[in-house]
Amino acid sequence: MRNFIFKLLPTLFCFFILFSTTVCFAMDNEGCLTCHQYPGLAIHKKSGTVKVLHIDEAKYIGSPHGELACKECHKKIVKVPHTGVSEVDCTTECHQKDKEKIVTSKKALNNFHKKEQSCITSLKDRSSCGICHPLYPHSKDNIVRAFLNLHTGFMLCEVCHMKKDELKGLSYEWMGSETAAFSGEPFGTHFNPELGKASKSKNFISRIAAFDTKKGKKQLLINTWDVAKAKAYIETEKSLTPVEKTRKLDLFHKDIAKKKISVACNECHSEDSILDYKKLGFDEKKAKGPYILEHKRSGNKI
Ligand code: HEC
Ligand code: HEC
Ligand code: HEC
Ligand code: HEC
Ligand code: HEC
Repeated sequence: MRNFIFKLLPTLFCFFILFSTTVCFAMDNEGCLTCHQYPGLAIHKKSGTVKVLHIDEAKYIGSPHGELACKECHKKIVKVPHTGVSEVDCTTECHQKDKEKIVTSKKALNNFHKKEQSCITSLKDRSSCGICHPLYPHSKDNIVRAFLNLHTGFMLCEVCHMKKDELKGLSYEWMGSETAAFSGEPFGTHFNPELGKASKSKNFISRIAAFDTKKGKKQLLINTWDVAKAKAYIETEKSLTPVEKTRKLDLFHKDIAKKKISVACNECHSEDSILDYKKLGFDEKKAKGPYILEHKRSGNKI
């Protein structure tokens, strides 16, 4: 099943890349976890809360409803994207006898998959980005936003958003550990580069960062110098005119490139990835293929 899923991924990425936001396609009954299996697959709702879209396969199978195919309940999900199609009716075929109880506990249904879901709830991010943006910051495009968001658990914003043209000595490596808290199971890479090995502690996480080497000196590309100014901005934001806001925001983003989805995935998920997967410790065979999915995320070995 897993292998089958992995084989499917390239096709999926092609869809992302070629058809961008307008694509709609029917999918097979079992294909849901192809996309939903990843911890950190999440979006921010307007209310400020996080909606986790991850479903852990093993935990799902072990759950009281684990024998049912996803579509037995999610009947309305027939194409991608399916934003806003969460609603499930539990009483048309099942739960006829306890119908009333189910209908009145609608709120509890929102937590239906809670035990099968994981996301990062807080990350002590040293960058200025984290002052203004949440860890799951992508919200615009409903096909890619949740996928982009899952990456922020294993790489810094700068890895994707840095203006790269003038940086000649770029490299991508693991950065020292950061303190993290999780909802559900801890996940990600618990790797401490200083010790050269994975740590058993689940309270921290390592992420891939961008470095620039100039005259033999390697410098971490993370905006820490704007942190105080960013906090001050947040405090005074309401009293600023639109022009002042734009001017200040432009300064905070002066090293930041807006990305185009059409090129964004290929930059890493291709033969000529900007990342050196082997050096980063990803499975060598996988690194050669277009998609690198067998990297051990458990943190036992890297
Ligand atoms: C091609 C990848 C993909 C496949 C396959 C897929 N999903 Fe999704 N699903 C997503 C993404 C991405 C989102 C988040 C959309 C967004 O950002 O609004 C999502 C959102 C959802 C939501 C929440 C909808 C909402 O906005 O309230 C449910 C429920 C869901 N999927 C169930 C399923 C089920 C059941 C299947 C299988 C029948 C399935 N998905 C197959 C990618 C996929
Ligand atoms: C027994 C019925 C049932 C089955 C089977 C089921 N779900 Fe759900 N699912 C629900 C309910 C109920 C909700 C919450 C609906 C709501 O918020 O109103 C939900 C919500 C979701 C969401 C939105 C996130 C959330 O937690 O609210 C996703 C994503 C999702 N399901 C994916 C799946 C996938 C993938 C499978 C198969 C592996 C699956 N579901 C199987 C009942 C089911
Ligand atoms: C002082 C607060 C603040 C800081 C610091 C900040 N941002 Fe932003 N950022 C914003 C706001 C507000 C917007 C939305 C602006 C808009 O709609 O024009 C935004 C927009 C963006 C966009 C979208 C740009 C576009 O043109 O659509 C990206 C990408 C981004 N930020 C990345 C970053 C990264 C990476 C960092 C860290 C280096 C960062 N931001 C630091 C507040 C901030
Ligand atoms: C894996 C690469 C990747 C990483 C890591 C990443 N981004 Fe993005 N980001 C993108 C791409 C691609 C887009 C364009 C998406 C679109 O056009 O909808 C984008 C768009 C954005 C936008 C504007 C569009 C939106 O969806 O709101 C903001 C704001 C943003 N990123 C902030 C951040 C911040 C803050 C971080 C770090 C916490 C970050 N990004 C990390 C790839 C990435
Ligand atoms: C800067 C490099 C980079 C970019 C850009 C990028 N990815 Fe990734 N992506 C990675 C790495 C590295 C992993 C492997 C993480 C792991 O296995 O721990 C990954 C893993 C994934 C996974 C599997 C998650 C997992 O934990 O195994 C999916 C799905 C994915 N990427 C989708 C996308 C999509 C869709 C885009 C474009 C919108 C994209 N990626 C852009 C680097 C990138």
